[in-house]
Amino acid sequence: MSFVYRALIRPILFRQESEAIHNRTLRALRVLSGSGLGCGVSKLFYGAPELPNEVFGLRFPNPVGLAAGMDKQAEAVPAWAALGFGFSELGGVTWHAQPGNPAPRMFRAIADEALVNRMGFNNDGAEALARKLQFWRDSGRWPQHPVGVNLGKSKITPNENAAGDYANSFRLLHSLADFFVVNVSSPNTPNLRQLQDKAALDEILAALQEINTPSPKPLLVKVAPDLSFEALDEILELATERNLSGIVATNTTITRPEGSTEWLRRTYAETGGLSGRPLRARSTEVVRHIYKQTRGKLPIIGVGGIFNAEDAWEKITAGASLVQVYTGLVFEGPAINREIVRGIRAKLAQNNFAALSQAVGSANRFE
Ligand SMILES: Cc1cc2nc3c(=O)[nH]c(=O)nc-3n(C[C@H](O)[C@H](O)[C@H](O)COP(=O)(O)O)c2cc1C
Repeated sequence: MSFVYRALIRPILFRQESEAIHNRTLRALRVLSGSGLGCGVSKLFYGAPELPNEVFGLRFPNPVGLAAGMDKQAEAVPAWAALGFGFSELGGVTWHAQPGNPAPRMFRAIADEALVNRMGFNNDGAEALARKLQFWRDSGRWPQHPVGVNLGKSKITPNENAAGDYANSFRLLHSLADFFVVNVSSPNTPNLRQLQDKAALDEILAALQEINTPSPKPLLVKVAPDLSFEALDEILELATERNLSGIVATNTTITRPEGSTEWLRRTYAETGGLSGRPLRARSTEVVRHIYKQTRGKLPIIGVGGIFNAEDAWEKITAGASLVQVYTGLVFEGPAINREIVRGIRAKLAQNNFAALSQAVGSANRFE
């Protein structure tokens, strides 16, 4: 299936500007989401086999989810389940609606199977997202998989007021999603990544957990791949102190590989975060570090450069209980999830693992 997409469909799609084709695809998925028949047919082609995993109290039908940023405004909530995703992370949403950075702001590095983006949290704000989520819930099409929301900070809110900005979105959306991810790691909002500093992050998490206490929902933090392990360890201390349910590792990187062609060098010269293949190894390193440092006690969602079952297996055996894809979906097409889940099931059988949980972190145990 992915072969057909790569050989026939992708070359046509890639002739169009990245963000334009992204928006067109989402519009098509929104139409699909409104049709029970459409979702049913899509499930036949792209639905993934069962590979259940229970993580932070939620049941995931399979461990491969949609990464944040693909469906920022919850346009196509039912479609992600129909495409075989075991969970979806919607957003990043900010309290205030904002246009994001000027276009063009998403670039393909095709030869390296990578993207550079500086979207800058373009979204209609938390109130619009709340209405959209309520709409899907009322429609009877709410998916049978966990739905998370990625929370960002509004650009107009200065860092010293960040806690209140995140708290406003969280309060409004709390009852409408199954889990929440605090995004302090996007490179595209000025100074956002400074909120990964312990004191600043502590203030945000304290505010969110106060809202969360009466009826707790899993709360995770998404980290940048560019953090030093020392800085990461400070976040892990907070994870215990502030009762986090897990870490999402990782966001895009501001580092760049050496471009082997003039086109790649020009693309890599664009400001923004790099995702896709060149990010894979570093994000796995971060997953491995977190797993070892927490002795496997803190669930990890591994994301960065996952294109196939091998890549997903690398993240899982390094310590991820769940994985996500973004750039892989762009390059491999809609069959990616089915193929990854099938491949993971085959690898479990080859290794005589009875359940996915036995594979999580297993590469570290054999070191
Ligand atoms: C165009 C684009 C927009 C993104 N927007 C967000 C976002 O709003 N919030 C977030 O936490 N991550 C965002 N990400 C990062 C992805 O969720 C993911 O962490 C990263 O792309 C690495 O995974 P990948 O290599 O599979 O793409 C975005 C990525 C891309 C390419």
